Amino acid sequence: LEFLDFQVRGFLGPQQLEDALTGMDLVVIPAGVPRKPGMTRDDLFNINAGIVKTLCEGIAKCCPKAIVNIISNPVNSTVPIAAEVFKMAGTFDPRRLLGVTMLDVVRANTFVAEVLGLDPREVDVPVVGGHAGVTILPLLSQIKPPCSFTPVETEYLTSRIQNGGTEVVEAKAGAGSATLSMAYAAVKFADACLHGLRGDAAIIQCAFVFSQVTELPFFASKVRLGRSGVEEIFPLGPLNEYERTGLEKAKKELATSIQKGVGFVKK
Ligand code: 2OP
Repeated sequence: LEFLDFQVRGFLGPQQLEDALTGMDLVVIPAGVPRKPGMTRDDLFNINAGIVKTLCEGIAKCCPKAIVNIISNPVNSTVPIAAEVFKMAGTFDPRRLLGVTMLDVVRANTFVAEVLGLDPREVDVPVVGGHAGVTILPLLSQIKPPCSFTPVETEYLTSRIQNGGTEVVEAKAGAGSATLSMAYAAVKFADACLHGLRGDAAIIQCAFVFSQVTELPFFASKVRLGRSGVEEIFPLGPLNEYERTGLEKAKKELATSIQKGVGFVKK
């Protein structure tokens, strides 16, 4: 029934950007173009980078204290773009900038639950790294409830989770990428941020954030959300050999994608 108090308003074009942003506590950015078959998320960079930059300039001006959820791909580069824009404006607060990787967690919970014969709601798979291909690193050794997989199952699950987005792009055959599942994940994540803002306890989700968990400036891992956004970033915990190898691959690609985002704003 809380819904009855909600107001929906529409805004259009650059002229109304400031009206849309002024006074906001949470801004969710899904803007941009989606993939077509054969494209990686990085192939969207040239179009989406500029869109994210413009929107973040508006945020810096109109609601610099808002929590920002970035969905626009390539997330591994658009989050660093947002950070650079905020730094240039003098408003960067690393706790308030989050790349949304919730869809990877939703997929991981779904596929793992399928293999285990459980309900996805009973499964919690940490997914760390980033939001593209090999940078999506499910930590199958840390699933709750504890479980174990054969090497074949591990390979199948890791690859299915890493390529879940591509699977949808291929199935849609030119009509775009995941929409309904992305919306579900976005709402789930935005809702977690709002619960954090409200001061609820123990709101823990995976997100791509400014981080010291690895040597990279940005990395997705479990974070605790609170009144000021990201209030705690959890370490990766014990990884097995398969995950350690995956982590090295993920970091290599992430480093390039992060640098590409930073370079776009600095040039
Ligand atoms: C996905 O993983 C759209 O990047 C989004 O499907």
